[in-house]
Amino acid sequence: MTGCPSENTESSDNAASQSAAPAATESAASTETHASVKGDPANGPTVFKTKGCTACHMVASIPEAKGAIGPKLDGVATIAATRVSGEDAETYLRHSIEKPEAFLVPGYQNLMMQGLRAQMSDQEYEDLIAWLLSLKA
Ligand code: HEC
Repeated sequence: MTGCPSENTESSDNAASQSAAPAATESAASTETHASVKGDPANGPTVFKTKGCTACHMVASIPEAKGAIGPKLDGVATIAATRVSGEDAETYLRHSIEKPEAFLVPGYQNLMMQGLRAQMSDQEYEDLIAWLLSLKA
């Protein structure tokens, strides 16, 4: 795809820069193939709330997140790195949303619905992942 604007300027202040931004190749390339959008962790909580994650998960920084069907997500970025051998935190977090049945947190059932990823735009998903990655213990 040639017409795909992927100006991954490190600290993009405004998305108004449609001119060809130099640099920013694929250095930010993540583990999988989603990398034309750069996540903004500041928007993660909004995605988390609007996509219904709060119904099942608690996060201390989000008062509305009171669900107890799934594990508490404070510190999830730290624990994510230890969940599945061979998966770093980011890979694990992506898998936990894209295919929640692939690994079940001990003590929890396979209740997280499939298809959550499809309910988000690429930008929303990257924002969510960037934010989850900031939840370190
Ligand atoms: C219907 C309830 C439900 C909803 C809604 C839900 N989850 Fe979950 N989630 C769970 C359950 C139950 C688990 C534990 C079982 C498993 O690993 O799939 C889990 C596990 C997780 C994990 C792994 C946590 C760990 O400690 O390893 C992450 C990350 C996660 N969910 C993120 C999300 C995000 C982000 C959303 C919103 C897009 C979401 N969940 C929506 C129920 C839910």
